[in-house]
Amino acid sequence: MPHSAFLHTLRELLGASHVLTDGDLSAYELDWRGRERGKALAVVRPGSTPEVAAVVKACVAAGVSMVPQGGNTGMVVGSTPDASGEQVVISLGRMNAVRKLDADNLTITVDAGCVLQNLQTVCEAAGLLFPLSLASQGSCTIGGNLGTNAGGTQVVRFGNTRDLCLGLEVVTPQGEIWDGLTGLRKDNTGYDLRHLFIGSEGTLGIITAAVMKLYPAPRAKMTALVALPSLAAAVQLLGLAHGHLGAGLTGFEVMGQFALSLVHKHFPQQRVPFFQTVPYCVVLENSDTESEAHARAQLETLLQAAVEQGCAVDAVVAENIAQARALWHIRESIPLAQAKEGLNIKHDISIAVSRIPDFVAQAEAALARSHPGIRLVNYGHLGDGNLHFNVQAPVEADAQAFLRDEEGPINAVVYALVDAFNGSISAEHGIGSLKREKLAKHKSPVALDMMRAIKQALDPHHLMNPGRMLSPDDSLRDATNH
Ligand code: FAD
Ligand code: MLT
Ligand code: ZN
Repeated sequence: MPHSAFLHTLRELLGASHVLTDGDLSAYELDWRGRERGKALAVVRPGSTPEVAAVVKACVAAGVSMVPQGGNTGMVVGSTPDASGEQVVISLGRMNAVRKLDADNLTITVDAGCVLQNLQTVCEAAGLLFPLSLASQGSCTIGGNLGTNAGGTQVVRFGNTRDLCLGLEVVTPQGEIWDGLTGLRKDNTGYDLRHLFIGSEGTLGIITAAVMKLYPAPRAKMTALVALPSLAAAVQLLGLAHGHLGAGLTGFEVMGQFALSLVHKHFPQQRVPFFQTVPYCVVLENSDTESEAHARAQLETLLQAAVEQGCAVDAVVAENIAQARALWHIRESIPLAQAKEGLNIKHDISIAVSRIPDFVAQAEAALARSHPGIRLVNYGHLGDGNLHFNVQAPVEADAQAFLRDEEGPINAVVYALVDAFNGSISAEHGIGSLKREKLAKHKSPVALDMMRAIKQALDPHHLMNPGRMLSPDDSLRDATNH
């Protein structure tokens, strides 16, 4: 079908104002990190699940591939079109309604395009907590969170997005609608299809709605910024925090000195304690169901024990909500500060918590040998064993040229160590197109074959976000015959 006839069909389905082909489409075509600029045949903005299904059917009929997109805050170039000008971006942004809040069932049912922060606000107003929390929450969507199985800063207590989801509504690559919005906590009637779609990065279908788990809101939250003598001390402090706070430990984020210095440099209005004096700091949060006084007393006892055992040097405990926000804001500003410093290489890695200090020592030494002068921006969700072990080019280098020439060799050094430590090359950001080739190298052949078989079964024409996660060559290969 010629493009003009296809675009005409899309306009008939959605109305011309929701089929974008002209003007500045960079918000949809450029990834958040500015790594790649694609070109879309069209950006479509359906307003309902039947409209999504109709668009998918039209794409299938025309043999056009589709890229589901939420807030376009992903880190691995998974939500933007390739450069061919042949792909349709399906943006879920208009589908942003809260369908139902069931306080007795502790669930909320929302459209996939609902912005995470809006969902948090609705729950808070009802005295409930939706715990997923990311620095991108003002723009990322629940569909994107599910598509990437996002982690964030509360995983240590509440798990990843996968653990917060009780049901999905999905438009399949054929344009059928699967209604799995039961909201049941127990359902052993065969394969749990929801888990196939969560973390599939738009390669198996389009999530149009979800039922998410809620929790009672805590009575109090206490936040501290703790100064540490070493990374090993952070692991020791984490053990102490688990012991002292139990389920109250809702945040444990580590930040290296250079990461903090970037926040100080690029956001001078923020006060960043300790960054000139210690190699690492931790933001630690205690949520309490009893009272503020109880939460504070627990936290102070923990910090006292930490100082006595030598795993903390000093600490600031927030006196009020504004101060707590300011401490969290330091942590949340790191990705933005890093982006302001220039293009960079991100490693979103998972290692057993106990082995993280050894990993970092070995990786730092290896990179200092292979790439003297590079700057390591090391921070992340230590409570989950997830580090953002990122690399900034040497000060005097041209970042663009550095990435072009050195990203491969640097990744080789880091990922070889990740393998040696039995870790993962993607803890929470996913694979997208940026890490697709690495996945092929670091995942077991048996696992890759099962993934290809699933892709082939659900999306036999490979029209759903092709070239993401799995290589385009895989799309030509018969998963059942090799
Ligand atoms: P998009 O970027 O639009 O899409 C991401 C992927 O999901 C793509 O493959 C896309 O095709 C697919 N997708 C989107 N919507 C759907 C849908 N409805 N159905 C099926 N597939 C879909 N990530 C973390 O895990 N933890 C963090 O702490 C974190 N912090 C961040 C901080 C900043 C400042 C920024 C910019 C990003 C951060 N991220 C983090 C990354 C990003 O915000 C998450 O990956 C988020 O889940 C993406 O949501 P999105 O709506 O922007 O999805
Ligand atoms: C974070 O934890 O801040 C995010 O995953 C974003 C990033 O790593 O840049
Ligand atoms: Zn993260």
